[in-house]
Amino acid sequence: MKILVTGAAGYIGSHTCRLLTETGYQVVGYDNLSRGHHIAFERATGGGTFVQGDLLDTALLRNTLKEKSIEAVVHFAALGLVGESVEYPQRYHRNNVEGSSSLLRAMQEAGVRRLVVSSTTAIYGQPEEMPIREDTPPAPINPYGQSKLDVEYLLQEACERDGLGFVALRYFNAAGASLDGMLGEAHEPETHLIPIVLQVALGQREQICIFGDDYPTPDGTCVRDYVHVNDLADAHLRALNTLNPGQRIQLNLGSGVGTSVLEIVEHARKVTGHDIPAEIGARRSGDPPWLIADNSRAKQILGWTPEYSSLDSILTSAWRWHQRHPQGYETT
Ligand code: UFG
Repeated sequence: MKILVTGAAGYIGSHTCRLLTETGYQVVGYDNLSRGHHIAFERATGGGTFVQGDLLDTALLRNTLKEKSIEAVVHFAALGLVGESVEYPQRYHRNNVEGSSSLLRAMQEAGVRRLVVSSTTAIYGQPEEMPIREDTPPAPINPYGQSKLDVEYLLQEACERDGLGFVALRYFNAAGASLDGMLGEAHEPETHLIPIVLQVALGQREQICIFGDDYPTPDGTCVRDYVHVNDLADAHLRALNTLNPGQRIQLNLGSGVGTSVLEIVEHARKVTGHDIPAEIGARRSGDPPWLIADNSRAKQILGWTPEYSSLDSILTSAWRWHQRHPQGYETT
């Protein structure tokens, strides 16, 4: 089956392209390369078909869908930095919401009616009840979360209007790297905890600043649900295999286990054998104290079980990637 993958050169996109290719799907990558890395797609697919294009280019999307006889779409392409979204909310609306709207139009015109989409825990904001279930009322607290929630509303409209079938996968904290160290996380600038901690271990940064230790959590630092990128890729494959036109499914993808910032730093010291100096800094605005997934629905509907999401597997794989690619994809 032929699948169009938008954001195919990105972090989660490239890992998913690899799994889809290994499973026998024919992947056509679509990415504007504003944040992604073409080499990641090449490594993932062994030189698969790639179209460089923007989500807002509806005609290019439509033509690609038709010419390549695409049967389903996996849609990753999005901007995903909370801080940047606060600074440039219009950019997030245009790229994420209008971009997805353009994709839906192209799919409708090309008669493609199956879509798996990245969504995020950021749509929930700061919920009081933990773990978070899919029916926890959405209440985003930043433009990034709002943009992804708006995309979910667009999908529901398209489902009712055109019989689109979709699975929206709400990721918690994506982490880790491919086990062979060939694909991994390479953002510029890097804002995520685990890559920054490992950059300290590599000597690229002097220390990690822990954003607040006065949260109402067991050790005072924020608790997150880290889920391995391979497990996320596996969920996309399962979603594709499950999905039929007209269906609408929203699922949390997390390990169901909470880990604090301090626990990450301590575990990274063990995995890397480095000191990793840490200092306590001020809270980062907009950080909820806890985010943990209730993942029972994904388990039930997709038959999904996170297999690589132990802290050890996440940090070991991420450390291998960072050691082999200290400058990301740039110098390899
Ligand atoms: N942190 C630090 N120091 C750093 C970086 C992060 O202490 O230098 C802390 C953060 O305060 C947070 C935790 O580490 O408590 C994880 O932070 P990340 O930036 O790695 O991830 P977030 O939880 O902020 O972001 C994730 C997803 C986003 C999503 C967001 C929703 O990556 O896509 O959750 O809250 F929008």
